[in-house]
Amino acid sequence: MARVALVTGGTRGIGEAISKALKEAGYTVAANYAGNDEAAGKFTDETGIPTYKWNVADYEASAAGIAKVEADLGPIEVVVANAGITRDAPFHKMTPEQWHQVVDTNLTGVFNTVHPIWPGMRERKFGRVVVISSINGQKGQFAQVNYAATKAGDLGIVKSLAQEGARAGITANAICPGYIATEMVMAVPEKVRDAIIAQIPTGRLGEPEEIARCVVFLASDDAAFLNGSTITANGGQFFV
Ligand code: CAA
Repeated sequence: MARVALVTGGTRGIGEAISKALKEAGYTVAANYAGNDEAAGKFTDETGIPTYKWNVADYEASAAGIAKVEADLGPIEVVVANAGITRDAPFHKMTPEQWHQVVDTNLTGVFNTVHPIWPGMRERKFGRVVVISSINGQKGQFAQVNYAATKAGDLGIVKSLAQEGARAGITANAICPGYIATEMVMAVPEKVRDAIIAQIPTGRLGEPEEIARCVVFLASDDAAFLNGSTITANGGQFFV
């Protein structure tokens, strides 16, 4: 039977490409989203992938949403914690609200997503956890004290989960995408974006599908010995 995969933030941007690629690879996919009903409807019309609406920043809503996915589709064996937001501002202008929104979604959101699924993975002795971090969690970024902190924190989550899950057949790995052609990056002022592209040796933004293919590999049986690792996919912009 097809394995069930959950992708948070799975209807737009990198998450949309991940949902589609996992479906293509034979998984039964559930795509979570938080707010954009129109995009979610269009996504389901195009792909046939069901969507589930909840805010990953809310633990109770996440647990209830995950229970619904499992009731509909079966136990989740692959979870891709992809949902993320930016609230960019230079630190001297960053508000506590901007800090908390990003921490709640990008960091606590990973806890809220994986925690309800984890006991089932332990019982069944199989699981794949993939967390979408960022190049900016590795190198920091002007105007992203909040975002960079969460994305670095995501790597700590993965490295710890890897140690806890290993004996139960669960792997946890991260992907650090560089700048990918999505709405999030297109929202950066054009002049700033051009300056960023000039720093990418490949000379272009990445494509969402290039990240999705990394996820498909990490989810596969072939990746059983990768645990606690970080795939850095950034066109050569930054080396760790
Ligand atoms: N490095 C150094 N200086 C920078 C800079 C950078 N990367 N970006 C902006 N600055 C400077 C500007 O040149 C300007 O300097 P001056 O005052 O001397 O002209 C100053 O910072 C901007 O100050 P402002 O007070 O005008 O800034 P603002 O409040 O208008 O904020 C901004 C502007 C939010 C910083 C905007 O420039 C911006 O969005 N920058 C992009 C930040 C970024 O790269 N975000 C990544 C988003 S994509 C993503 O996050 C996905 C992923 O995982 C990769």
